[in-house]
Amino acid sequence: MTIEKMQIQHVPQVAALEKQCFSDPWSEKSIASELVNDLAFWLVALEGETVAGYVGSQTVLGESDMMNIAVHPDFRRQGIAEALVDALMTELHEQGSRCLTLEVRASNESAKQLYRKLGFIPIGKRPNYYFNPREDALILRKEWEI
Ligand SMILES: CC(C)(COP(=O)(O)OP(=O)(O)OC[C@H]1O[C@@H](n2cnc3c(N)ncnc32)[C@H](O)[C@@H]1OP(=O)(O)O)[C@@H](O)C(=O)NCCC(=O)NCCS
Repeated sequence: MTIEKMQIQHVPQVAALEKQCFSDPWSEKSIASELVNDLAFWLVALEGETVAGYVGSQTVLGESDMMNIAVHPDFRRQGIAEALVDALMTELHEQGSRCLTLEVRASNESAKQLYRKLGFIPIGKRPNYYFNPREDALILRKEWEI
C-alpha cells in the first residue's frame, strides 16, 4: 500500500467510495474541484491502481479541517485509515498548520475509536449537524507543536 497526493485519475474511485460509505456523499465534481482549491489537501491509499481509502482536508490560516475519510470495506482493519491520518498530519504540519479538527457522527464507534487512538480530543458538539439520519456531530481536535 502506498499513500499519495490525490490526482485527477483517482477521483472517480474516491467518488464511488464516498457514495458507498456516506448517506450525503460529495459529488465527483466537488471532489475534482478540490484539486484546484489552494486550501485543500487530499491523500489516497493505493493498492496497485485501486483506491483503498482517502482523506481530505482544507486549511485556513494555519488551522486544518478534515473533510472526509473512508476506507473500502475490503481493506478495513489493516491500518489504512491510521496511516492516512498520520500522513495527512505530517504533511499539514510541514505546511505550517497548527491543528486538525473534524466532525464525527455521535454513533460512529469505529471512527471515534480511530480518532481516540490518534490522540484527538473532544472539544464540542454540533446538535443535529447530520442528515439521513439526523444526528449530532462530535467535534474533535488534535493540536501539535510547530
Ligand atoms: C472509520 C474507518 C475510516 C476506519 O478505517 P480502517 O482502515 O478500517 O481503520 P484502521 O485499520 O486504520 O484502524 C485504526 C484504529 O481505528 C479503530 N477502529 C477501526 N475500525 C474499527 C472498528 N470497526 N471497531 C472498533 N475500532 C475500530 C481501532 O482503534 C483501530 O486500531 P486497532 O486496529 O489497533 O484496534 C472505516 O471504518 C470507514 O471507512 N468507515 C466508513 C466511513 C466513515 O465512517 N468515515 C469516518 C467519517 S468521520
